[in-house]
Amino acid sequence: MQYFLLLAQFIFLISLSNCVVHKMSIARRETLREELYRLGKIREYAKLLTQTRLTGESSEGTVQHVTDFHDFAYFGNITLGDPQQQFLVVLDTGSSSLWVPDTSCGSNSFLSTSACRHKHRYNSKTSKTYRKDGRFFSIRYGTGSAMGFLGFDTLCFWGTSLCVKNQTFGQATMLASFFARQSIDGILGLGFPLRTADAALPPFINAVQQGLVEKPIFTVYLEHHGPGSYPNGGIFTYGGEDPENCGDVIKWQPLTRAAYWQFKLDGIEVKNVHFRDNWEAISDTGSSFIGGPAIIIEKIAAVS
Ligand SMILES: *[C@@H]1O[C@H](CO)[C@@H](O)[C@H](O)[C@H]1NC(C)=O
Ligand SMILES: *[C@@H]1O[C@H](CO)[C@@H](O)[C@H](O)[C@H]1NC(C)=O
Repeated sequence: MQYFLLLAQFIFLISLSNCVVHKMSIARRETLREELYRLGKIREYAKLLTQTRLTGESSEGTVQHVTDFHDFAYFGNITLGDPQQQFLVVLDTGSSSLWVPDTSCGSNSFLSTSACRHKHRYNSKTSKTYRKDGRFFSIRYGTGSAMGFLGFDTLCFWGTSLCVKNQTFGQATMLASFFARQSIDGILGLGFPLRTADAALPPFINAVQQGLVEKPIFTVYLEHHGPGSYPNGGIFTYGGEDPENCGDVIKWQPLTRAAYWQFKLDGIEVKNVHFRDNWEAISDTGSSFIGGPAIIIEKIAAVS
């Protein structure tokens, strides 16, 4: 358990695309952070950032607070449409699509058993910015699937000025019963585009392409609070680093595959248990467990 908590507090920051290479350029400029350190002004700056955070803006990235739910799941709010319709979603690096329940979800005779029943449902008729796509969508997670049809609308990250126009999203008409027990409305994928001809651009990549963010990176900071629900339980920073919560030294790890956020592990160490091997792992903000070969996980569990 402790190992999980450690992971939950771990800040990860990975570069999108291949710009890691450009970072190594010898003509590299001093970053704002380094300059502030050199001038002895970093504390002053961090204080200013904390203040500006209240309005969701900072000079380096767009900041969104997320709710820590029992250190088990982390949720953020988004809106779709104009006027805005609000949804609570998992900000999930382990998938690449955005979907929310559609107003037609659960409106048939199966209403009493529908997983959509207590959720916010998107109504395209009240949105001025909605455009129809109409193609079918279906997405499977480890826990169950969601299906319906696709549409386009303006997506905004709650509490920020970051709004992505013309975002493809799924209007779910059917949800697996797993979702009935979850307090979330939908899921926002922060993974990479699927490699199919008709694949939609995931929201953050769409934001990058529309020139809405300073840098093509986002930073995840998840807090550890224990049981309970904490609305300020973590921070997602879009378009920049998180200078308040990131350490001074940032190590860049190349992705081995850009589908999930997948990278090489040299080994694992928990207390006195060490394993060294060339595994590949994914970093998944939408999962609440450490998965791996049983023989290793059992040894970790035994010392945790
Ligand atoms: C999301 O919205 C709900 C309802 O307005 C609110 O109670 C909750 O605190 C919000 N959470 C975050 C992290 O913004
Ligand atoms: C909206 O996005 C789709 C693909 O995601 C694209 O085909 C279409 O041209 C875009 N429309 C506008 C108005 O930008």
